[in-house]
Amino acid sequence: MSDNPENKVPKKLFIKTFGCQMNVYDSDRMADALAPQGYEQTGIMEDADLILLNTCHIREKASEKVFSELGRMKKLRDEREHNGKTTKIGVTGCVAQAEGDEIIARAPVVDLVVGPQSYHRLPELVAKARTERVIDTEFPEEDKFEHLPGPTKKATVLRGLTSFLTVQEGCDKFCSFCVVPYTRGNEVSRPVSHIVAEAKNLAAAGVREITLLGQNVNAYHGQGADGADKGLGALLFELAKIDGLDRLRYTTSHPNDMDDELIAAHRDLDQLMPYLHLPVQSGSDRILKAMNRRHTAKSYFEVIDKIRAARPDIALSGDFIVGFPGETDADFADTMTLVKEIGYASAYSFKYSPRPGTPGALMSDQVARKVADERLQALQSQIKQGQSAFNQACAGRTMDVLVEKQGRLEGQVAGRSPYLQAVHVDGDVSLIGSIVPVKIKSIGPNSLYGELIDTSMPKTANMVENTTHATSERSA
Ligand code: SAH
Ligand code: SF4
Ligand code: F3S
Repeated sequence: MSDNPENKVPKKLFIKTFGCQMNVYDSDRMADALAPQGYEQTGIMEDADLILLNTCHIREKASEKVFSELGRMKKLRDEREHNGKTTKIGVTGCVAQAEGDEIIARAPVVDLVVGPQSYHRLPELVAKARTERVIDTEFPEEDKFEHLPGPTKKATVLRGLTSFLTVQEGCDKFCSFCVVPYTRGNEVSRPVSHIVAEAKNLAAAGVREITLLGQNVNAYHGQGADGADKGLGALLFELAKIDGLDRLRYTTSHPNDMDDELIAAHRDLDQLMPYLHLPVQSGSDRILKAMNRRHTAKSYFEVIDKIRAARPDIALSGDFIVGFPGETDADFADTMTLVKEIGYASAYSFKYSPRPGTPGALMSDQVARKVADERLQALQSQIKQGQSAFNQACAGRTMDVLVEKQGRLEGQVAGRSPYLQAVHVDGDVSLIGSIVPVKIKSIGPNSLYGELIDTSMPKTANMVENTTHATSERSA
């Protein structure tokens, strides 16, 4: 029944998203693209007429998940068929791009395979998949963002107070372990005016915080109003002019692309939150070279010094890979030293996973799994210690919290600090949507707890000082 295009009964769409924030953003764009066809998003997979698996290919485990998920979906599709309902199943994202043909061959349950560059074609591809199996993993000439509809105001409101906004896609860096340049293609930046227009729409629908996304976001070089290319710093200065947009963030960045204008944005823009994810991957120059990172541990420290000079309270986060081919105990010790010296507020660490088609997979001196496991454990425990030290140091401080939702406990609300920490606050749901000064009282394993500073009270000298700290949290 739902196959009939004339049928006015809304069809249900379920999207399961894996991988990075860009996939989260893309999933919303796909839902927006299919909404005019009558597809309404549901959180219940069993109800869906169309299921899309938006996949990630970054590590082996990530792509294995896709095939096990497809097994589960086959059962579900058969059950629905038993009840006279049709279900179409599509695979999108980076596994679709990298292994599209293999998916079609290995998983007969899949009706549709669409790579990340073809999402604007989704409505016609879904229509075609009614009668035949469809695969589109082209890198089309046209700009997909130009052709992808934005969300309705209602959809944006439902998605909450914070939003992702992709400004750049693809990567030209070719780190020797990484599939992204193959799955997402060359670096492409969207024009400044398009991004500003999208950000204004988000702000008009009540969004207060935007995270700009790109696989290599600080390599952004989109066309400005004067026709010349603008960097990420210039883009941030433009976005900071938008009324109602109180918080800006961006992710993820490469150390070599932290230019002076971007660092100046960290110095000058109150809206730019003092939290930066700047992956380094390893502390050993030998390994960084083998990874084709094109920077050294020293140049990474130099960049961090510059950023800290501009914004002393900045919290840092990073990514690390252990067990890259050829990594010795001494190389790993260099990574541990770097982690201790930088003092990350948080960091992600991964065991190296050889990816088909990348130079790393062909390197001869692969590290034994057991050794990589041990290194990962040691690194994670060091990172945890750093994170806990960072959080403990927040006790007694006053910081701004963007209140996003009801808390776990009755009478509590929850939100994020400028440093992206989860903060629970005693308070009423009427606070949702506000940015309020909160005094941090205690530190839990995964979140902070604080009390609202009553700004309606007459300000004493002491409080004025406190609130000043709260709004800017910076010492220069
Ligand atoms: N564009 C981002 C990273 C994207 S991938 C950047 O340049 O920093 C996210 C993280 O996954 C990487 O930073 C890296 O730490 C990890 N990663 C990527 N490929 C990997 C692989 N083959 N094995 C293990 N971890 C990997
Ligand atoms: Fe992958 Fe990031 Fe390196 Fe690009 S810069 S190849 S996305 S790790
Ligand atoms: Fe994964 Fe693709 Fe993102 S491989 S990390 S979903 S760019």
